[in-house]
Amino acid sequence: MRPVALITGGSRNIGWAIAQRFAPTHRVVIGDLSPPSSALADDASWFECDVRDYAACERLVAAAVAAGPLSVLVHSAAITRPAVPVTEIRPGEWADVIGVNLTGAFHVARAAVDALKAAQGSAVLISSRAARVGYAALNPSPAGTKPHYCASKAGVISLTRSLAVELAPHGVRVNCVAPGSIEGDMIPRERWPEIAARVPLGRLGKPEEIAEACHYLCSPAASYVTGHVLDVNGGTWMN
Ligand SMILES: NC(=O)c1ccc[n+]([C@@H]2O[C@H](COP(=O)([O-])OP(=O)(O)OC[C@H]3O[C@@H](n4cnc5c(N)ncnc54)[C@H](O)[C@@H]3O)[C@@H](O)[C@H]2O)c1
Repeated sequence: MRPVALITGGSRNIGWAIAQRFAPTHRVVIGDLSPPSSALADDASWFECDVRDYAACERLVAAAVAAGPLSVLVHSAAITRPAVPVTEIRPGEWADVIGVNLTGAFHVARAAVDALKAAQGSAVLISSRAARVGYAALNPSPAGTKPHYCASKAGVISLTRSLAVELAPHGVRVNCVAPGSIEGDMIPRERWPEIAARVPLGRLGKPEEIAEACHYLCSPAASYVTGHVLDVNGGTWMN
């Protein structure tokens, strides 16, 4: 039976690239609000799942486990919101961003813990350079700094470390990938040249480059790596 790779937010862009990277060796299960943007491999599947809903995450994990041992979990589902001054962020808007990006990560991880332990699997939570810097670096706006998005992604790093320590005795590794500016729908295409000019490597990253980092962290090559945050940002932020 092929091991399963469960990818939240796997229907497009970075999550889709992650799903494609695991597809040759894993049965891919995608949990996303929307159906995949392209055709899935024969043994891959998509389940409608809103990660804000814990019961939906439990159903998603149950469906994944029914397909095989849960060897890989990647939580990529997230939302962002336009930069506005903090005084213009409505409490409900703050709650939406934290709800998907951070509480969603908790829901997915909590629902998957037993299955990961049973399979000696590995998890990656997708954070962001925004968490490291504390504001939306290279994507600045005089209007604001996206504190909800940045705080949610900083929370994801902290959650990763807590999970890594708690699950290490069970043989489960938990790591984080923090992308910089990546080609896709999150950054309007007309801004790519201006952003690329400020990246030491001279371009935006590609979804496949984030997928490769996730694949490494879940592979035997990273067998002694846990609780790590892997920055994949073209040199725009260095620890
Ligand atoms: N694109 C970038 O430049 C960039 C930079 C840093 C970090 N990231 C992070 O990488 C990840 C992927 O980014 P992307 O550019 O592919 O984003 P995207 O917006 O293109 O895709 C996000 C996916 O998540 C899904 N989703 C949204 N809300 C959901 C919910 N409540 N439940 C389930 N699924 C939901 C969407 O349907 C979509 O398929 C995100 O965690 C994002 O924060 C992206």
